[in-house]
Amino acid sequence: MTDKITKGQKELIGLEFMEFTKYKYLGTSDQRKGKPHPPLEVPFDKNKKQIDLPAPEDISIPKKDLRTCLEERISLRKYADKPLTLMELAWLLWATQGVKEIGEIWTKRTVPSAGARHAFETFLLINNVEELRAGVYRYLALEHKLIEYDLTEGIADRIVVGAYGQKMVKQAPATFIWVAVPYRMTWRYGTRGYRYLHLDAGHVCQNLYLAAENIDAGCCAIAAFYDEQMNQILGLDGKELFTIYMAAVGKKN
Ligand SMILES: Cc1cc2nc3c(=O)[nH]c(=O)nc-3n(C[C@H](O)[C@H](O)[C@H](O)COP(=O)(O)O)c2cc1C
Repeated sequence: MTDKITKGQKELIGLEFMEFTKYKYLGTSDQRKGKPHPPLEVPFDKNKKQIDLPAPEDISIPKKDLRTCLEERISLRKYADKPLTLMELAWLLWATQGVKEIGEIWTKRTVPSAGARHAFETFLLINNVEELRAGVYRYLALEHKLIEYDLTEGIADRIVVGAYGQKMVKQAPATFIWVAVPYRMTWRYGTRGYRYLHLDAGHVCQNLYLAAENIDAGCCAIAAFYDEQMNQILGLDGKELFTIYMAAVGKKN
């Protein structure tokens, strides 16, 4: 598709996106048309191994006030040679996508989301987390569990390449890879929903920054990645599911 875009179109695409996602251009949404709601979670392979995480109410983290977290927060690109514990990973997952309430067509989570759509799935590249083999996992937010996704050798190296060659992805104990599920959003908002996906992703990553700070860790947001490569590595079609944002995380030195 991109090959056919002319230079003029490329220069205009951002303006056109902002223009044609204005309310005046939006038709009737699928929600208003009475179309069925898409699932609150992308279905997963029940034959793959699932890993229990410490329940949100059992997660104990040090007391650190918000002001200190805000003052000390930086984008951390080098990490101590120390694993994250499963408890710490559970904390970061709960802080970024933890489900507090489940309705028929919505979830309430630790982050806000336009229309409570929460149109993301969280994938994780795990390099150094206690009790976990290295590889890619998915966080099942509704179940608050992990599920093995792809533990094949060399996956971390491939993700480094997909992430624009950013080596922190291999050095970090964990890298969050947020995958957008656009129809969960556009079902309600039509094409304007694409704006909200990007806004929502920002909230999610900001919670990771603050939650990491709370456990003497740090993270670095990553938006420089090759879309096609990241999607291909994760087996995503790039339309119904696509990589929207990433962040590497680990303990401070
Ligand atoms: C949307 C977004 C994308 C970013 N992408 C990257 C990235 O791909 N690689 C990187 O090293 N830093 C990335 N960063 C981190 C910024 O470079 C960083 O936030 C900025 O330099 C300010 O530094 P601070 O976060 O330490 O205050 C990104 C930050 C944001 C918010």
